[in-house]
Amino acid sequence: MNDAAPEWPAPGIDPDVPSAARVYDALLGGRDNFKVDRGAAEIFERLSPRVREAARLNRSALLRGVRYMVGEGGIGQILDIGCGLPAEENTHEAAQGIDPDARVVYVDNDPMVLSHGRALLADDRTTTVVTADLRDPSGILANPDVRAHLDFDRPVGLVIAGTIMQIAEGESPDAIIAELMAPLASGSHLLITAWPDTGEPAQHGLSRACLETLGNGWCRPVERLERHFQGMPMVPPGLEYIPRWHPGEPDRAVPAVDDLAPFERTHMAGIAVKP
Ligand SMILES: C[S@@+](CC[C@H](N)C(=O)[O-])C[C@H]1O[C@@H](n2cnc3c(N)ncnc32)[C@H](O)[C@@H]1O
Repeated sequence: MNDAAPEWPAPGIDPDVPSAARVYDALLGGRDNFKVDRGAAEIFERLSPRVREAARLNRSALLRGVRYMVGEGGIGQILDIGCGLPAEENTHEAAQGIDPDARVVYVDNDPMVLSHGRALLADDRTTTVVTADLRDPSGILANPDVRAHLDFDRPVGLVIAGTIMQIAEGESPDAIIAELMAPLASGSHLLITAWPDTGEPAQHGLSRACLETLGNGWCRPVERLERHFQGMPMVPPGLEYIPRWHPGEPDRAVPAVDDLAPFERTHMAGIAVKP
C-alpha cells in the first residue's frame, strides 16, 4: 500500500452505516455508495415500488427549478442545502448553463459530499462546497465560505431539495427555513421538493423505508408542506406533483393527478418568491 495515498474512506465516513447521500446516489444509479447503501436502496424499492424513477423525478425537479430561478427569476447566486453527492447533472451546471457567472454554494452534512464535491469542483471559482447542517441555520448563514461566495445584498435562490423530510417536526423545519430566508434580499427564491402524504401506500412506503434505514424521513400532508413556503407568493403552478410542475410554462399541458402512477405522486416541488 502506498503510504502517500489519501485515507479511504475519509474521516467521518462509516461504510457500514447507510447515509442519505449515498442511498440517494445508489437510487440514481451512481457509484459513490457502499454495499450497505445499495441494501438500503433495495428496502426503498420493496416498500415504494419504482422509487428509482421517483428519485430521478426529484432530481429533474431540482434542475428544472434551478433553471427557472436563474433564467426567469434572474437569480445569480444559489445556496443549495442538502445538495447530495455529485450526479450526472448538478445545480451549478444547470445554473451556469444559463448564466456562466452564477455562483453556487453547496451545503451538506455528509462528509463524503465535501470530498467528492471538492474533487468535482476543483477548478470552479464560482462554486464551493461547505459541510454544515440544515438544523443549524445561523451556522450556515455565518459560515465564512458562504459569506465570501454570496452577496446577501442581492437575491439568492435557496434550494432545499429532497431534504426537508429528514427534519423532524420537533426540529421545527418551518422555523429553520424562516431563519434562512430572513436575511435574504427581496426577490430571493425558495425552491423545495418534499414528500406529500395524501394517504397513498407508495408515499407511506417511502417514509417507512427511510425511517428503517436512515432513522428519519417523513411524508407530510400537502397543507403542511405549503407552510414550508412561509406564506410567500408561489410561482405558478404552486406546489405540485413533479410531472405536473413546470414553473414558467403556464400553458403546458400536464397529466391529470389521477393519471399519474403512484411513484409519480411521491414527490412535490414548489418555488416561492420573497416579496
Ligand atoms: C435525497 S438527498 C437530495 C440531494 C439533492 N438535493 C437532490 O434533491 O437531488 C438528501 C441530502 O440531504 C442531506 N441532508 C440530510 N439531512 C441534512 C442536514 N440536516 N443538513 C444538511 N444536509 C442534510 C443528505 O446528506 C443528502 O445528501
